[in-house]
Amino acid sequence: MTTSLPNLFAALPPEGARLTDCGRLALIGHHLDTVAATPGMGVRTRRDMLLEKLNGLLGPTQFEHIDAHCAAVARLSHRLARAMGMTHGLADRVRLVGLLHDIGKCVVPESVLAHPGPLGTDQWTVMNCHSEAGARIAALLGADDETVEAVRHHHTWFDATPPNEIPQAARIVCAADALATMTSQRSYHYARSPAEALAELRRYRGSQFDPVVVEAAPTAMGSADQAAA
Ligand SMILES: [Fe+2]
Repeated sequence: MTTSLPNLFAALPPEGARLTDCGRLALIGHHLDTVAATPGMGVRTRRDMLLEKLNGLLGPTQFEHIDAHCAAVARLSHRLARAMGMTHGLADRVRLVGLLHDIGKCVVPESVLAHPGPLGTDQWTVMNCHSEAGARIAALLGADDETVEAVRHHHTWFDATPPNEIPQAARIVCAADALATMTSQRSYHYARSPAEALAELRRYRGSQFDPVVVEAAPTAMGSADQAAA
C-alpha cells in the first residue's frame, strides 16, 4: 500500500470510486510517492517529474488536461494577474496555481473526460472531485498551503461564499480556466472566439467570476480583444 493512495481515494466519493480504474489509481499513487520522496526538488520540478511518469499511463484527454491545458491556464493566469496590477512575484505564484489547478484530473477516468455528450450524475460526481484530489496532490508535491487552498477552490463560484474566503489566485485561475476552455475545442463543444468567451465571462460577472478579474480579462487576452470588448 502506498502512502498517497488512501489520500487519493479519500478525495473520491463512492460514486466516483465506482467509475475509477483502481489499478491505474494505485500506479498514480505509487508514482506520486516516488516523486514526493525525491529530496531537494521544488514543486515545479516535482510536477514535471510526475507528468513524465504519468505520460503513457493516462489516456490522451487526461494527459492533455494535466499538461497542455494547465500550461495554457498558467500563462493566462499570469497575464490576468499582471493586468490586475500584481507584482511579478505574486503573479508567478498565481501562475503556479494555474499549472497545478487540474492535476487532480489524473484520477478522473478518460471515459469521463472524453465523454462526447452531457455527463450523468455519477460522472459529474467523479469530475467534481478533481479539485480536492488536485489539492491533495499539490500538497504531496510540496506546494505551500496558500497554493493548495487555491487549487482546492479553483471552481468555487464568486458568490458561493464571502469573496475573501476564496483565495485571490483561485478567482483568477477560475476565469483563466473558463477562457482557455471556451476557446479550445472539446469533445462536448466547438471552440468559441476570444470575443465570445469574454462576453460569456461578463455574463457571469459577480456570480461565477470576480468582477475585478473580469475587468482585467480583455487586457490579458490581448489587444485585438480589447477592441471587441
Ligand atoms: Fe478544474
